[in-house]
Amino acid sequence: FLRRRLIAANWKMNKSIREAEDFAREFLQLIPDANSNERPEIVICPPFTTLSTLKSITEDYGVKLGAQNAFWEEKGAYTGEISPSMLLDAACSYVILGHSERRQIMGESNNIINRKVKAAVEAGIIPLLCVGETLQEREKDRAREVVKEQLVKCLKDIKLSGEKLVVAYEPVWAIGTGVNASSDDAQEMIAFIRSCLEKIYSREEADLTRIIYGGSVKEENIAEFLGEADVDGALIGGASLQAESLARIVRLSS
Ligand code: G3H
Repeated sequence: FLRRRLIAANWKMNKSIREAEDFAREFLQLIPDANSNERPEIVICPPFTTLSTLKSITEDYGVKLGAQNAFWEEKGAYTGEISPSMLLDAACSYVILGHSERRQIMGESNNIINRKVKAAVEAGIIPLLCVGETLQEREKDRAREVVKEQLVKCLKDIKLSGEKLVVAYEPVWAIGTGVNASSDDAQEMIAFIRSCLEKIYSREEADLTRIIYGGSVKEENIAEFLGEADVDGALIGGASLQAESLARIVRLSS
């Protein structure tokens, strides 16, 4: 198939080093072998503090690492920030950018996210760009308009090949609420996102870009999402914190 399935875990601000270590040892026992070509690509995005521990345990098993944020400058006097090249150095292949929690709590605008996506692409890290509407926007029938604007602004003036980008559609009302979007709604919006990418880039690049769904994904609903033509995987928060639960999701995605 054109696009390899992707299961990405976003641990958000959870787990000590010890907990991350225990998770990794258990998880690796429960997932299909790395060379099983049925296995989806697996990416764990833990807090920065546990990256190095996870690297040492997972690197031989083909499980990739991602970060949850990055700054746009490469280095310098930016107290508290971490650059994409530092993430690369810490073995991250991916970085989540534009997550709704950062948009809402940290006040990140599309313009700021655009700078971050640009810096990540230049450093050779794959941005996992999150977009999605709030409940209020959906109720006002503005969901498509909002998602389109996020895509156009966050990807402005960034040249990239579709393989070097992942988009996560995460309706804000479905995040951490237990109320997932229906698979029909996810398919509809993800197909729309693909059509936006076609306009921004080209048909070929849009066909190569993986677009995944996030928002209350769990083992009970993953198969339904993956049954949709345009849904290439999932970004999982709560259900990724238990090794058994994430492993079951991986197995159901194989
Ligand atoms: O990045 C992950 C999403 O925010 C989804 O979180 O699976 O806990 O709803 P959730």
